[in-house]
Amino acid sequence: MRNGYRQLMPKPRYRPASIRSMRIIVSVTLISMFIIGAYLYRLRLYRNCDSTMTLSDCGLMKDWVPPAKARKLTDNELNARAIIKEVLSAQPSLSNTSKIAFMFLTPGPLPFEKLWEQFFTGHEGLFSIYVHASKRNAVHKSPLFVNSDIHSDKVAWGTISMVNAERRLLANAFQDPDNQHFVLLSDSCIPLHNFDYVYKYLMETNISFVDCFEDPGPHGTGGRYSEHMMPEIEKNDFRKGAQWFSMKRQHVFLILSDYLYYTKFKRYCKPYMDGGNCYADEHYLPTFLHMVDPTGIANWSVTHADWSEAKWHPKAYGAQNVTFELLQNIRSIDMTTHITSDDEKVVTREPCMWNGVKKPCFLFARKFYPEAFKNLTRLASQLYG
Ligand SMILES: *[C@@H]1O[C@H](CO)[C@@H](O)[C@H](O)[C@H]1NC(C)=O
Ligand SMILES: *[C@@H]1O[C@H](CO)[C@@H](O)[C@H](O)[C@H]1NC(C)=O
Ligand SMILES: *[C@@H]1O[C@H](CO)[C@@H](O)[C@H](O)[C@H]1NC(C)=O
Ligand SMILES: *[C@@H]1O[C@H](CO)[C@@H](O)[C@H](O)[C@H]1NC(C)=O
Ligand SMILES: *[C@@H]1O[C@H](CO)[C@@H](O)[C@H](O)[C@H]1NC(C)=O
Repeated sequence: MRNGYRQLMPKPRYRPASIRSMRIIVSVTLISMFIIGAYLYRLRLYRNCDSTMTLSDCGLMKDWVPPAKARKLTDNELNARAIIKEVLSAQPSLSNTSKIAFMFLTPGPLPFEKLWEQFFTGHEGLFSIYVHASKRNAVHKSPLFVNSDIHSDKVAWGTISMVNAERRLLANAFQDPDNQHFVLLSDSCIPLHNFDYVYKYLMETNISFVDCFEDPGPHGTGGRYSEHMMPEIEKNDFRKGAQWFSMKRQHVFLILSDYLYYTKFKRYCKPYMDGGNCYADEHYLPTFLHMVDPTGIANWSVTHADWSEAKWHPKAYGAQNVTFELLQNIRSIDMTTHITSDDEKVVTREPCMWNGVKKPCFLFARKFYPEAFKNLTRLASQLYG
């Protein structure tokens, strides 16, 4: 404004002293007002913040720090991103022939085959079954499971061979174009609801139920992340989650075509890595899907396990533990719980939101000992009726 004004007015040869001092006073006043204004503005912003918040939490950093220059992607990353973008933009195609693939990862026979048979019966055409038996081939008690075995390989707990077995199951199931949702189950899993409930729950949402959270402790990023995963996987991308997932076809496509991130976990997430123990089956899928489609995963698993004893394995239920009350209690849980493994043991509880509505979290539960079969069968009509 002032420059423009000056151009319009003929410039005087000299200015009287009184006008000059007036101008100085006006300038100083304007500058002071500006400084006070800016200070008050900051105070106003800070009123929404408390001492535990970082500057970026209060919305201050954004304006004050120039954004970090984006890292140049490697060719492999660029290729991966192009594929990921294309796959995620595809519309999910559901029809009355869409099926759920039930994929059992087991060392040997499935003790609850007959229970699953009760669950499946009457819904032919809406499910398919795949069994990866890593130790000995299962002798099937149910005709529904006959011919469901896929070509399997050995699985050593905590190693990449576990992830390889999951990918093998996915690759088999993916070949049937009617399979739209894929559920990974163990030999100790049981269904908590009837088939119709499970089918609707999984099919009528665009979300994969993959457990995922950030654990800064020794059993998470603190002890298991390796700097070797850089530059593609940064420390703050590293996530943890239970192995038992249920997943949309699009996400399965991404996993089957991923070698970049998979190779990082194969090489650098394993027992005795960098002085710590990393278990790829607890980190690869949560980290990968968090990186490529964070809002496409629920961040919890629909398979319940009770870790409240904080041991290496969740609580297991024998024959005498199996009551309708136990299963009813598990069915009524509608909050997810995550606990960090550091000394703070920070507990995060969140409602299980399904298409924007709070719902019970779990469709399946583990671990049940084979001896619980009889009691479970007794409850089956109550559970699935
Ligand atoms: C599925 O839907 C098609 C029409 O879209 C129909 O012709 C067919 O009979 C249906 N199949 C079943 C099993 O309901
Ligand atoms: C899932 O995605 C499709 C395509 O984007 C959309 O039409 C549909 O409404 C979505 N379903 C839900 C339950 O959000
Ligand atoms: C899962 O967590 C991520 C943040 O890590 C969030 O962006 C995403 O919305 C969450 N998923 C759902 C379905 O709420
Ligand atoms: C199962 O029942 C036994 C005997 O009553 C009990 O000692 C055990 O704690 C129970 N286990 C669980 C997981 O509830
Ligand atoms: C479960 O089995 C035990 C014996 O193994 C029996 O005492 C108990 O009543 C059974 N519970 C149910 C619900 O059938």
